[in-house]
Amino acid sequence: MSDNAKLDVRGNTIELPVITGTEGEIALDISKLRAQAGIITLDNGFVNTGSCSSAVTFLNGEKGILRYRGYPIEQLAEQSNFSEVAYLLYNKELPNSDQSKKFYDDIAKHAALPGGVSNILDQFPATAHPMGVVSATVSALSCFYPEYLNPEATDEIKSRALPQLMAQIKIIMADFYRKTIGKDSIESNPSLGYSKDFLTMMFGGDVDEEVAKALDVLLILHADHEQNCSASTVRVVGSSHANIFASISAGIDALWGQLHGGANQAVLEMLEAIKNDGGDYKKFIDKAKDKNDPFRLMGFGHRVYKNFDPRAKIIKVACDTVLEKLNINDPLLDIAKGLEEVALKDEYFVQRNLYPNVDFYSGIIYKALGIPTNMFTAMFVLGRLPGWMSQWRELREDPAAKIARPRQIYVGENERNYVDLKKR
Ligand code: CMC
Repeated sequence: MSDNAKLDVRGNTIELPVITGTEGEIALDISKLRAQAGIITLDNGFVNTGSCSSAVTFLNGEKGILRYRGYPIEQLAEQSNFSEVAYLLYNKELPNSDQSKKFYDDIAKHAALPGGVSNILDQFPATAHPMGVVSATVSALSCFYPEYLNPEATDEIKSRALPQLMAQIKIIMADFYRKTIGKDSIESNPSLGYSKDFLTMMFGGDVDEEVAKALDVLLILHADHEQNCSASTVRVVGSSHANIFASISAGIDALWGQLHGGANQAVLEMLEAIKNDGGDYKKFIDKAKDKNDPFRLMGFGHRVYKNFDPRAKIIKVACDTVLEKLNINDPLLDIAKGLEEVALKDEYFVQRNLYPNVDFYSGIIYKALGIPTNMFTAMFVLGRLPGWMSQWRELREDPAAKIARPRQIYVGENERNYVDLKKR
């Protein structure tokens, strides 16, 4: 549906098309505003800017709703599995049994890395941050698959890309982890299912079904989150027709920062710091409220969720399952619960609608699984890959897509004459 809105600027009336999405969200199409009236819109950090139309994920931050291709996250977390959700995001519909079997077979086809990529992986020092390793290695994959460099991806390439990258990122992460602990890598066995295979490649032995399911739920919860920082990065890079490996590698880098995916590592480090400081979490709450202190309560707050993060609710349950199953009594969990309780009642946090987000509890699960803290954000990569791939595919199949190129308001010096070095 489309109608027009009127905008009055300094005596000029400008008509802007009004766009309505399938969930009733309203937008003003300002793309012709500069051509019409010489005006741009200014929106630092894209707080209120739609960068595209998308049919992948619906999110209502006020009501705490998250749906992939229309399916509520709660139903997918309970009844589906990560591979199926990945297929759904990328291919728009849930797979039937033939499609599902083919998808698993396609993941299984890539149960090893090209030899050259394994050699590159071997060169990273064991102290390297896993995010740097995953980003660089995914970028390196572009050097081994020239058929992906054609900007016009064929249907065959598109259908191969997701299972290939899902399989290869899993291997990159597990192989690098094994190297850091001085052990040989363990071959992938895709018949175990995605999460169980990954945990087996990391730790060997027989992985408990419930524990593997808890990880699978976590990956489902992370699989997509519409136009967040990293997905937007994938789209911006992809909009120049850069190849898929380059686009995903850029998304990984965007995720690394602690305001985004890096928050899960930062949360655990914060909880450790509180524990080492004697467990007085109220002191840290005061620090987070102090405007002269750069400290923020990591794992709290979200650009779009202003009531609760539906993913955090589900994660809390998965967290209890894992800790109980593995018989772990983690004092960090008590600190996390105490911190949450105090913050949720504190006027500062209430007024600003700051609630625990997905990263607040995910780190405790990863820790219980034995995953090292500096690998937490790479775990987010494992989950978010299908979302990035789906956003990339949607962009590349959108006839209206354009290269991303924002405008700016210049606030620098006006024209002035060059002054010779000797006269300065
Ligand atoms: N601790 C203390 N104060 C906070 C926090 C926090 N975690 N988050 C926001 N605020 C305050 C902020 O100082 C500001 O206060 P005021 O209005 O007085 O200036 C107000 O709340 C609004 O914050 P904002 O920075 O304008 O909000 P934003 O939408 O730009 O930032 C955020 C969202 C997630 C970056 C931010 O809440 C934050 O830094 N949180 C901690 C990091 C974190 O947990 N990130 C993971 C996000 S979820 C995973 C993902 O999808 O990436």
